[in-house]
Amino acid sequence: MLRAHPDLLLFAPMSVKPLRQRAAWAALENHYRQIKDQHLRDLFSADPKRGEKLTAEALGIYLDYSKNRVTGETIKLLCQLAEESGLRERTAAMFRGDKINVTEKRAVLHTALRAPRSASIIVDGHNVVPDVHEVLDRMAAFCQRLDKRIKNIVNIGIGGSDLGPVMAYEALRHYSNRNLTFRFVSNVDGTDFVEATQDLKPAETLFIVASKTFTTQETMTNALTARQWIGSLPVHEHFVALSTNEAEVKKFGIDPANMFGFWDWVGGRYSMDSAIGLSTMIAIGPDNFRAMLAGFRAMDEHFRTAPFDQNLPVLLALLGIWYTNFFGAETQAVLPYDQYLKRFPAYLQQLTMESNGKSVTAGGARVDYETGAIYWGEPGTNGQHSFYQLIHQGTKLIPCDFIGFKHTLNPVGQHHDLLMSNFFAQTEALAFGQSAAEPYRVFDGNRPSTTMLCDRLTPAMLGQLVALYEHCVFAQGIIWDLDSFDQWGVELGKVLAKRITPELQSKTEPELKHDSSTNTLIRRYRQR
Ligand code: F6P
Repeated sequence: MLRAHPDLLLFAPMSVKPLRQRAAWAALENHYRQIKDQHLRDLFSADPKRGEKLTAEALGIYLDYSKNRVTGETIKLLCQLAEESGLRERTAAMFRGDKINVTEKRAVLHTALRAPRSASIIVDGHNVVPDVHEVLDRMAAFCQRLDKRIKNIVNIGIGGSDLGPVMAYEALRHYSNRNLTFRFVSNVDGTDFVEATQDLKPAETLFIVASKTFTTQETMTNALTARQWIGSLPVHEHFVALSTNEAEVKKFGIDPANMFGFWDWVGGRYSMDSAIGLSTMIAIGPDNFRAMLAGFRAMDEHFRTAPFDQNLPVLLALLGIWYTNFFGAETQAVLPYDQYLKRFPAYLQQLTMESNGKSVTAGGARVDYETGAIYWGEPGTNGQHSFYQLIHQGTKLIPCDFIGFKHTLNPVGQHHDLLMSNFFAQTEALAFGQSAAEPYRVFDGNRPSTTMLCDRLTPAMLGQLVALYEHCVFAQGIIWDLDSFDQWGVELGKVLAKRITPELQSKTEPELKHDSSTNTLIRRYRQR
């Protein structure tokens, strides 16, 4: 067991026991034994109204969890687990601005990014809400006065400074200004920059350098390449910065007037609705951006106030716990039946896996249970012709979130009915399967899925969906007793890479002090 740093213990509510010692955990273990072999076919025939009952609805999202391997009792026990884990108190602590990111000693206040102007949220004695709105207003003014010569917007950033902006741009493309071209450069691989800019003219291009720290190697390397690429054009006309680090922004040569700030209480993967969303705001306009924020806020309120058994993020979180910790599922598929959401699974990978990919509790103890699932997915129906085979007939249990919309943004012929027929058919096939004489035609069924049938993909709906998963991640992190807001697991690789760069570039043969595999690989690379 690791020794907990005294600071870490401050946050752990005294009344919360380690996960496996909570009463609801033992009850769930018993319950799992009773339910694990029950087939969804039997659960549905035992209760003809199951498909109407095991549902919840809020904010234009109808969540049907009846095709999961649960009963009313399962949900009751899981909700009890959430209660015993202190989810209510911890949620209040997050919204209040307590320093719940214990290893970095920071508040976690992405919810403040969408708070109304009238709200007051105090961090270290200071109300942060006016600061949030001051930046939003400056961003809106910037969008309105964007130089008419600018035709291309290139966002340079990585992780949360890329995945949110690129996902939101794709998701809300229907609402975007089609006179502008948007590109996103993230990888330190020079190919990313070269391909993103090869058909652009420097005089018509604005670079948005998005980096919370403004020290991230990939982003700063791409930003320096961009500065060279514009040649003698003035930096202040072609660069803006989105960052918390004014000193580094200045050092790079970007005028603070062209900087949009945010704060250390915004985690990178929770930042798409902060200044990091400038490219989104330029694309869809300030009014649509504010509508997106209103969607986030509506889901925040739902999460904060709805009873657990009617609470969309909590239900998603509890289902995830059920499969991860009791059924031993390793992954969670997210399958959006909307082409605009094609980057949503990639966005969720950072949100979920950087948050809950941990094996030490917030108090510093090694966990003795499974934590964060591997998230993955592709838009339907493409996935159906690729990996669905394994979900239907493979040996692994893969819970799936299906996300679809009643209304399409592009009504073309019968496309939407065909798309949605597939959407409904897949969950039916997964749950109920089919018997057949030939073994290879047998579908066992009993493969769990959750369906989210949403009204329409608007900016507000996107905000709601993102906040839904943000709070799902939070709720799971609380039950698993993790610090969902740090990301120490990305550090070691960065440190080692910095050590290796001079070894690759040294003119003379460097003394290599790695293992025999790494040494040989580096020598071979040097011989190229
Ligand atoms: O990968 C680690 C990480 O710190 C992410 O959490 C973050 O989103 C990304 O790097 C980019 O960081 P920055 O915005 O500081 O460049």
